[in-house]
Amino acid sequence: MKSPSLSSEKLQCIKEETWINMANLSPFLLSSLAVTSIFGFFILYSPNPFKFSPKHASNQQSPLFQHQNGDENCDLFKGQWVPDMNGSLYTNLDCQTIPDSKNCFKNGRRERDFVNWRWKPQQCELARFDPKTFLQIVRGKKMAFIGDSVARNHVESLLCLLSKEEVPRDIYKDSEDRFRTWHFPHYNFSLVILWSKFLVTGTERLINGSSTGVFDLQLDHVDPHWAEKLPGIDYAILSDAHWFFRKIYLFQGTNITGCVYCTEPNITDRGPGFALQMSFRAALHRINKCRECKGMVTFVRTFSPAHFENGTWDTGGRCNRTSPLDEDDIKLGAYELEFRRIQLEEIERARKRGKRFETLDITRAMLMRPDGHPGAYWGNKWMKGYDDCVHWCLPGPIDVWNDLLLAMLKKEANLSLDEGYLLV
Ligand SMILES: *[C@@H]1O[C@H](CO)[C@@H](O)[C@H](O)[C@H]1NC(C)=O
Ligand SMILES: *[C@@H]1O[C@H](CO)[C@@H](O)[C@H](O)[C@H]1NC(C)=O
Ligand SMILES: *[C@@H]1O[C@H](CO)[C@@H](O)[C@H](O)[C@H]1NC(C)=O
Ligand SMILES: *[C@@H]1O[C@H](CO)[C@@H](O)[C@H](O)[C@H]1NC(C)=O
Ligand SMILES: *[C@@H]1O[C@H](CO)[C@@H](O)[C@H](O)[C@H]1NC(C)=O
Ligand SMILES: *[C@@H]1O[C@H](CO)[C@@H](O)[C@H](O)[C@H]1NC(C)=O
Ligand SMILES: *[C@@H]1O[C@H](CO)[C@@H](O)[C@H](O)[C@H]1NC(C)=O
Ligand SMILES: *[C@@H]1O[C@H](CO)[C@@H](O)[C@H](O)[C@H]1NC(C)=O
Repeated sequence: MKSPSLSSEKLQCIKEETWINMANLSPFLLSSLAVTSIFGFFILYSPNPFKFSPKHASNQQSPLFQHQNGDENCDLFKGQWVPDMNGSLYTNLDCQTIPDSKNCFKNGRRERDFVNWRWKPQQCELARFDPKTFLQIVRGKKMAFIGDSVARNHVESLLCLLSKEEVPRDIYKDSEDRFRTWHFPHYNFSLVILWSKFLVTGTERLINGSSTGVFDLQLDHVDPHWAEKLPGIDYAILSDAHWFFRKIYLFQGTNITGCVYCTEPNITDRGPGFALQMSFRAALHRINKCRECKGMVTFVRTFSPAHFENGTWDTGGRCNRTSPLDEDDIKLGAYELEFRRIQLEEIERARKRGKRFETLDITRAMLMRPDGHPGAYWGNKWMKGYDDCVHWCLPGPIDVWNDLLLAMLKKEANLSLDEGYLLV
């Protein structure tokens, strides 16, 4: 399959913030086109695609009493978006750290309904983010987000939420702004972002010094840029996926063991799912083997879906919906759910081998939020006419990732107490 691509001139104009090199997303988007067209078709013919169904919200007995304090049986990640006029905890005006590419209101988005929804797990309530509680739990700790630009998007949301309680100091930034550290002095909390496209070592093939968008992945070698920084980290939030949807050669040592989207007759195309699986396996194995990572808890954040409709990113695909989908409307997001399944499988596998692993399972919730992306409002004057349907607006539905993270941290904090770990 031949993928259309941008001229290199245009490519250079894509702002640094757009770390997912959209030009190279083509194979992913071509394959996801099938999904989105089916998806679009389904929406078109669904009798009432946007109705809010209260069926889960009404028929349960006093959930507040039963489940508020970390009921093990409540699946926080299965539920519905319900209207909530309280809006977001912060605005794009009072959070100083929102990058322009996520500042959808600043970039001209007028319709604001997408901030008036909250996530309602079927069996319980998810508490609204409380920055003070969060900072109390992480007092004296170090938290690292490891992944691509969507991981960065998650951090950007967290920075806005926490700034309500304490504005952090920016204490380290590399020249490309891909590795960065913030510190909250009052709570002595360090927040770190470690950039990694694949979690394992990935090297882009160059032809005469120019990039090709084709990568060599070393499935037996974890990316040292994050792995070497593990000691001292208390909480790691690990993610990645979008870079796997391109032409990739897979290596074990010096042997080519397969590829993703290649057409050579003597190499097996194993698909992006395999590459993703092996990379997560290697990464989680590395964490389990880390001797200086005592007490570290790892959260794997599952696949964050993109929502291009009526085309791929470079063929006029858009994401201009203005309300969430119903739970029943995402059943056909099979493609995304398959990647989520692979990640859950690898977490289970890693859990059996030692350290503490948790899942930040946002895939289903986010599949329902085609309205939460910047779309045309990502403020990139070089890419006018192209929508960003991969990242998420701030404020916006991505903020729920931190509501969920806080709920998990509370649970972890209590578990640690039970097990006699020292909670500072
Ligand atoms: C939302 O606002 C209503 C009233 O304005 C309040 O009763 C409710 O507790 C708020 N919900 C949350 C989650 O803060
Ligand atoms: C702050 O936290 C770090 C660990 O993140 C710890 O090493 C250091 O001693 C703490 N400093 C103070 C003043 O508590
Ligand atoms: C690389 O550069 C050389 C010399 O300029 C040229 O002959 C060759 O065709 C180039 N190779 C590719 C793949 O573009
Ligand atoms: C590479 O292939 C050779 C021959 O099949 C095998 O002996 C060797 O173990 C392989 N190396 C790795 C790292 O898998
Ligand atoms: C596949 O075939 C090509 C062309 O014959 C050759 O250059 C390449 O080394 C082969 N790759 C493997 C993994 O055998
Ligand atoms: C996709 O196309 C359909 C039919 O032309 C249209 O109703 C819908 O608004 C389009 N969706 C987007 C996001 O452009
Ligand atoms: C989304 O864009 C399509 C064309 O690109 C347009 O037909 C449709 O009305 C738009 N939908 C909304 C809700 O603006
Ligand atoms: C820990 O559990 C108790 C009840 O078991 C609950 O009251 C408390 O709020 C929990 N602590 C946290 C930090 O969630």
